[in-house]
Amino acid sequence: MSNPVIADNKPAKVTLEKGKKYVFCACGRSANQPFCDGSHSGTGITPKPFVAEEDGHAFLCQCKHTGDAPYCDGTHAQFDKDQVGTEGPG
Ligand code: FES
Repeated sequence: MSNPVIADNKPAKVTLEKGKKYVFCACGRSANQPFCDGSHSGTGITPKPFVAEEDGHAFLCQCKHTGDAPYCDGTHAQFDKDQVGTEGPG
């Protein structure tokens, strides 16, 4: 199993629609961050489907190391810009 790629060292601000299902990219390889585009194939990492609980903005994790997926929990602060695009520490 591969480690997630740090897609960015900051979250993505997105607008979610209450009751709508989204599929969060957990592998960091999607070109459609922060959402899944199927790029996890072969990594052993599976995307995380979730349903928005309310209308409005949310900050979704792009470092892929949050402890509260799909939401940013501040963990990205440990990653430098030069780690973006690389596999994290695991
Ligand atoms: S972007 Fe991953 S914890 Fe903030």
